[in-house]
Amino acid sequence: MGERRNGFVGVFDSGVGGISVLRSLVAELPHEDFHFFGDSAHAPYGEKTEAQVLDLSCGIAERLISEGAKAIVIACNTATSVAAATLRSAHPDVPIVGIEPALKPAARALPNGRVLVMATEVTLRLEKYRELVRTWGGECDVVAVPCPGLAARIEWGDLDAPDLAEMIEGYVGAYAGKVDGVVLGCTHYPFVRRRIAEVLGEGVRFFDGGAGTARQLRARLTDADLLAGRERPGRVEFASSLDTPEELALYERFFSLQA
Ligand code: DGL
Repeated sequence: MGERRNGFVGVFDSGVGGISVLRSLVAELPHEDFHFFGDSAHAPYGEKTEAQVLDLSCGIAERLISEGAKAIVIACNTATSVAAATLRSAHPDVPIVGIEPALKPAARALPNGRVLVMATEVTLRLEKYRELVRTWGGECDVVAVPCPGLAARIEWGDLDAPDLAEMIEGYVGAYAGKVDGVVLGCTHYPFVRRRIAEVLGEGVRFFDGGAGTARQLRARLTDADLLAGRERPGRVEFASSLDTPEELALYERFFSLQA
């Protein structure tokens, strides 16, 4: 068990988005080792069929587990919606933590407020999302805002470019001055939070699932007696299905960005 405890946590996403979650994981669990895999060669997941997302997600998780991951974090709302249940029943002995749109904290903070949920098309069309709204939406006016193309655009980097601002204006411009909160329901979107805030105007509150996912991982590792028992700081390794030095440099850059 001691050896397993000092194993790594496998974290994956369709691409760079999961790095926003990884930052929360490292902040919460600084002594854990994390191996991050971004499937940038197949991003975006949010515009694929569920069968494709299931296939890709299970392939990555299975590989991380066979490489020795002691736990898995699905750092992708889309992949969590589609694949978390399947992976959990296939691996009952491995803690598998997923991320979902942070509607619960948003509805608690803004009762009766108007809340946009920005996410991928797949996340928003699944029953899991409707259940989330029924369970946690409370009295909020919850508005689903699918953002096709946004995750793929964020994959390119260059987050200050004018085309990205125009794209965001297209998704949420109509809500400027008319919303209280935004749930960033895709792990790519925290990297453009400031750009979204610029469009929506002052006073809008933002919510994402990164910190909650990190607390959930801590709880699951604690329950399974799998928290790393070492003194040295944890290490982070990056890998990508777009296996080029440029892509890995992009991942490192996103990891050091102030999301
Ligand atoms: N980052 C992912 C999510 O949280 C998916 C983005 C994509 O590949 O479409 O949903």
